[in-house]
Parts: sequence; C-alpha cells; structure tokens
Amino acid sequence: MATDALTLTDVHSYYGDSHVLQGVSFSLKAGEVLALLGRNGAGKTTCISTVVGFLTPRRGEIRLFGEPISGLTPEAICRRGIGLVPQGRRIFPSLTVRENLIVARRSGDGSRKPWSLERIYDLFPRLRERHGQLAGSLSGGEQQMLALGRALMGNPRVLLLDEPSEGLAPLIVAEVGRTIALLKSEGQSIVLVEQNSNLALDLADQVVILTTGQCVFDGGIDEIRANEAVLTQNLGVFQGH
Ligand SMILES: Nc1ncnc2c1ncn2[C@@H]1O[C@H](COP(=O)(O)OP(=O)(O)O)[C@@H](O)[C@H]1O
Ligand SMILES: [Mg+2]
Repeated sequence: MATDALTLTDVHSYYGDSHVLQGVSFSLKAGEVLALLGRNGAGKTTCISTVVGFLTPRRGEIRLFGEPISGLTPEAICRRGIGLVPQGRRIFPSLTVRENLIVARRSGDGSRKPWSLERIYDLFPRLRERHGQLAGSLSGGEQQMLALGRALMGNPRVLLLDEPSEGLAPLIVAEVGRTIALLKSEGQSIVLVEQNSNLALDLADQVVILTTGQCVFDGGIDEIRANEAVLTQNLGVFQGH
C-alpha cells in the first residue's frame, strides 16, 4: 500500500467564533494528486491555511509522512516540506522574477531530484526570458508560473495548489495542467484545490468534495467517473466527466 504523504484527521478550524472546518479528514498518498473540490466558500482555502499553519486547528490532527505538524509555526511546517501556491498567487510584485525564486530556495529531503533556478527556467522558459523583470509586471499566467516555481524552489514533499487556474485564459489553464501532470509523473505529491473540476479531474487520483466545511465525498477518480451525480449535486454543474 502507498505511504500516506499528508493526513488530516477530524480537523476543526475557526475564524474567531466562526466554526468553518467541521471535522475534515482525508489522506493523500505519496506520489498522487488529491483534488479538493467544493463551491466558493466551502472551506477549501481554510483547509489549506490550516495545513500550512496560518490557522491552528482547535481539534484534530495533521500528519506529514506520519509526523504530526499541526500546531507548528508556518515556518516550521514549510521546513518540514509543505510547499504552497496560494490562491491569488501572491508573488512579491516589487522583486524580480529571479529574486522571487531565490528567496524561496530551500534544500529538500533528498528523496527526489532537487530543483534549481535552471531547472525552473527549463520548466518555464518564459520566466528565464523575464528573469530581471519585476514580478508585478508579469501577466496572470506568468505570475502563476512564478508562484509554482517559487513553491518548487523549496523542494516540497507535498505541494498544495490553491485554485491555480483561477482567472486564467483556457490556453494558460491547459499549460498549468500539463505542468502539474509533469510534476506528478516525477513523483510529486500534490493537493490540487479547484472550483474548475475539469482540470482537477484530469489530474486527480483521489477526489475530496467539501461542503460547508465537511467532506461530503472522498473516493477514487473512477468512483467519480462512475457517479457523475456526485459532481452535479455537490458542485452544481455537470462538467462533462
Ligand atoms: N479571514 C476570514 N475571517 C472570517 N471568515 C472567513 C475568513 N476567510 C474565509 N472565511 C469564511 O470561511 C468560509 C470558507 O471560506 P474559504 O475557506 O475561503 O472557502 P473556499 O476557499 O472554499 O472558497 C466562508 O464562509 C468564508 O466567508
Ligand atoms: Mg479559496
């Protein structure tokens, strides 16, 4: 059986008194892609924020390759090997492309081929062309590539992508999809948060659907394909899978 890369067990998170994550549990297998789907406001970003330590769960446990990480600071969780591409990308607009990548450099656990500036530039030749440009001047698609490159520079054991296709043109979304597929083929463990289930279902091994802070579906990609009503019921749209 595959190793569990990231496991959430009965995780509860709050903003003040507002109880947003209400007992979320799922497990990402090493080398797989887990798609975390749900409507706007379902709690996807809150879940990601809890994993990376921006929020501390009031109940429940989060483990990275078996080691508990809940309660650690965001810096410590990052050092343990969680990489984040945040929703809205959040690159550093007044740093250059190269500087955005270099500040994130961190050695990994040695289990996979390490990322370097050159490898990131080979993956995204447009970033090489624009290496001296201020990141704030890039297009949305280029900023998404930079956010992904920045996360990879930390050599994460688990990569969290929060709506990487949001606001991008279809051709760029396809490019983001190809990049995620490539990372997966190299053994990267990935949690892919999406409202756009088409992209996610093309890449996912496992699908978890959140509704108002609770998991309403957790199953394999084949299970979703065999039961499209799950998508219609929980995401509101039939997206042709
Ligand atoms: N910083 C915050 N303070 C208070 N409530 C928040 C905050 N961020 C999100 N929420 C609320 O938490 C719920 C889940 O939001 P979020 O995790 O952003 O959903 P999603 O990423 O699935 O769209 C929503 O009801 C949202 O209004
Ligand atoms: Mg969100």
